[in-house]
Amino acid sequence: MTRQLPLLPLRDIVVFPQRIVPLFVGREKSVAALEAAMAANKELFLVAQLDPGEDDPGRDDLYDLGVVATAMQLLKLPDGTVRVLVEGAKRARLANLEPRDGYITAEIEEIEEEDESAGDAEAQALMRSVIEQFENYAKLNKRLPPETGIQLAEIDNPSLLADAVASNLSIKVADKQALLGELNPARRLEMVFAFMEGELGVLQVEKKIRSRVKRQMEKTQREYYLNEQLKAIQRELGNEGEEGGDELQELAQKIRKTKLSKEARARADAELKKLRAMAPMSAEATVARNYLDVLLSLPWGKKSKLKKDIAEAQHVLDEDHYGLEKVKERIVEYLAVQARTNKLKGPILCLVGPPGVGKTSLGRSIARATGREFVRQSLGGVRDEAEIRGHRRTYIGSLPGKIISNLKKAGTSNPLFLLDEIDKLGQDFRGDPSSALLEVLDPEQNSRFQDHYLELDYDLSDVMFVTTANSLDMPQPLLDRMEIIRLEGYTEHEKVEIAKRHLIPKQLEVHGLKDGELIFTDEGLRAIIQHYTREAGVRTLERELAKVARKSLRQILEGKAEKIELTVENLNEFLGVRKYRYGIGEEEDQIGAVTGLAWTEVGGELLTIEAVTVPGKGQIKTTGKLGEVMQESIQAAMSFVKARAPAYGVKPSIFARKDIHVHLPEGAVPKDGPSAGVGMVTAMISTLTGIPVRRDVAMTGEVTLRGRVLPIGGLKEKLLAALRGGIMTVLIPSENEKDLVELPETVKQGLEIIPVSHVDEVLARALAEPVSPIEWSDADELAVEPPIPTTPPDGEAAIRH
Ligand SMILES: Nc1ncnc2c1ncn2[C@@H]1O[C@H](COP(=O)(O)OP(=O)(O)OP(=O)(O)O)[C@@H](O)[C@H]1O
Ligand SMILES: [Mg+2]
Repeated sequence: MTRQLPLLPLRDIVVFPQRIVPLFVGREKSVAALEAAMAANKELFLVAQLDPGEDDPGRDDLYDLGVVATAMQLLKLPDGTVRVLVEGAKRARLANLEPRDGYITAEIEEIEEEDESAGDAEAQALMRSVIEQFENYAKLNKRLPPETGIQLAEIDNPSLLADAVASNLSIKVADKQALLGELNPARRLEMVFAFMEGELGVLQVEKKIRSRVKRQMEKTQREYYLNEQLKAIQRELGNEGEEGGDELQELAQKIRKTKLSKEARARADAELKKLRAMAPMSAEATVARNYLDVLLSLPWGKKSKLKKDIAEAQHVLDEDHYGLEKVKERIVEYLAVQARTNKLKGPILCLVGPPGVGKTSLGRSIARATGREFVRQSLGGVRDEAEIRGHRRTYIGSLPGKIISNLKKAGTSNPLFLLDEIDKLGQDFRGDPSSALLEVLDPEQNSRFQDHYLELDYDLSDVMFVTTANSLDMPQPLLDRMEIIRLEGYTEHEKVEIAKRHLIPKQLEVHGLKDGELIFTDEGLRAIIQHYTREAGVRTLERELAKVARKSLRQILEGKAEKIELTVENLNEFLGVRKYRYGIGEEEDQIGAVTGLAWTEVGGELLTIEAVTVPGKGQIKTTGKLGEVMQESIQAAMSFVKARAPAYGVKPSIFARKDIHVHLPEGAVPKDGPSAGVGMVTAMISTLTGIPVRRDVAMTGEVTLRGRVLPIGGLKEKLLAALRGGIMTVLIPSENEKDLVELPETVKQGLEIIPVSHVDEVLARALAEPVSPIEWSDADELAVEPPIPTTPPDGEAAIRH
């Protein structure tokens, strides 16, 4: 039986009997067909298109099999389309199409399904497995609402179940159409089962892929998330972060403004770039920041304006220091050259002298005279090269060396840099600091000074280096680079003047004493110098003056006195008992004890040389911590004495029975040098002959095996020591006579200085009585000797010629 029903072609869906499906209808003809159906018994024919893209399908564009359906609900949407709920009723075959006004009717023939037997055990089993399978399928297929499975389980008709499952499968239209076309319910069930099976496989793979993709996604997402979080945390911490930004900007600005060298600028930019990329609080960032701080705080291009007025410089030096005429003269000459050439190419000045003679303070004074900033670096005990040159930045907490950090302190690139106590430089396994100094002190090299920390060249050529030392005991290459200027120590007169002009005013000011409250008489001052100090410089003197000032201040504050005048009489009230006896000359003449003159780092000193004869075999014994050179000089003296014995009234046979022991007291102090030679000879002759030595005569000079007196060093210091020690007469090598012109008048007036060229002259002056030569031949050797007394008979000692 055929019927005419309005046609609704479906683009991509197959509607099964007994299924309710929502459709969106947009085509004009379809909407008209719907309206026609609604106007009649609401029945229409639904059939799938072969090509879903076809807008106006003809008979050949449609499948044969469709379904008769009832339109249940119709909703017109504002855009003209219609939403309609349809319920499939029966399968039907399309025969013909027939156009009506506005829509098309289909001539169809309803199809009866093959009979099915629900009670059939096989069908039952099939139904159950389909339902089970569908449950699995529904679990995997997220598009199905979860209750679908339950609804299906309630269906007990195989045909309906097959259709229900079929309409829920996500399979192609053609496949669905095939299911629609299968009229045997059992076979249709098998078919849907098979489709589900296939779909399940796909779905499982899909699921696997999905979970893999998901894992991937999760990973990248997690990373992204964590990164974002990290940024947020840094931003949070970085309220500093913001400041950090400011700081970096400040640094960049500073780099721009500082007059860096080309190399340094490149370096600073690179470092800043690195710093930008680092987390602000990290250790590397701190290192980089410190580096930039150091680099930028160096006085790039900053210079003090130098004073070039030489007369003014002389004036400043005179103002700060009394005496030292030659030293100041040399310094002013040096400054004059600098002022003219604008360059510091000359050698480095090295001020050498005993402690407390004003080396360090002279350095400060030169800085003042030239208008340079003053920095002082003590090298005493510097053992490590890194202290001069810094540590490489790879070490944690590394720092630039002393040179660079002091320049930073000076704040200008042309300061006066005083390298104090350069002779006290140490040296050990950590490297030789003096070799690092070689570079610093070489005007040819120091324009490219390399500090390990900075790792770039810094120009030191505008820095004026001045060094100080107590002795010249330092590596030759260092000595080579420096011009030695000696400060020898002061005479008593100079000390008095220094005290009056500089030390006393300074102490009065330090202690807050007013004018006239504390007055020193000249004699009082002199007594302090003579009895409370024994030094080449004025440091102890300054300390003693401070002591007087302190005690005076107390007395004045306690109201015991209004003003104090320091005299020889009241001196011990302030300074206690006298520490030193003034002058060995006060002592008695003795046999075998000679006053020698020594020169040490701390200035000149009086040196007693003692000799006695002891039973023995003509050997020499020495004690008193003597150095090698001195030992040898004693040997030489001994040989000379043995060779010339008869000429000095000594019988050579004595050496068969006696040894001579030479000792230099103050045995804890090391002594060395050849200049005690004449003293040794004199002491030996004295003890051998029993003639006393004059205590007020001091002597110095090397002696040869033939008795010639050779010149010595440190003459001025030795003479100053003699003057300090109250000596009247000093015997010096005649070759040293030329040095006398440099001596202050006070020294020449205070001492009788006698140049000597042979030991005979020494003996003539130093021994209390002349020697009387004896005749001696080898034959006398056999004669029996009367024992020679170690001390002369009383009567003899009294005789003077
Ligand atoms: N000629 C002088 N005129 C004025 N003051 C002086 C003179 N010589 C030294 N002084 C003063 O003596 C004190 C000690 O001097 P300074 O410290 O310079 O000695 P130094 O030679 O460096 O000794 P050291 O070798 O022990 O370092 C300072 O207060 C200094 O001003
Ligand atoms: Mg010093």
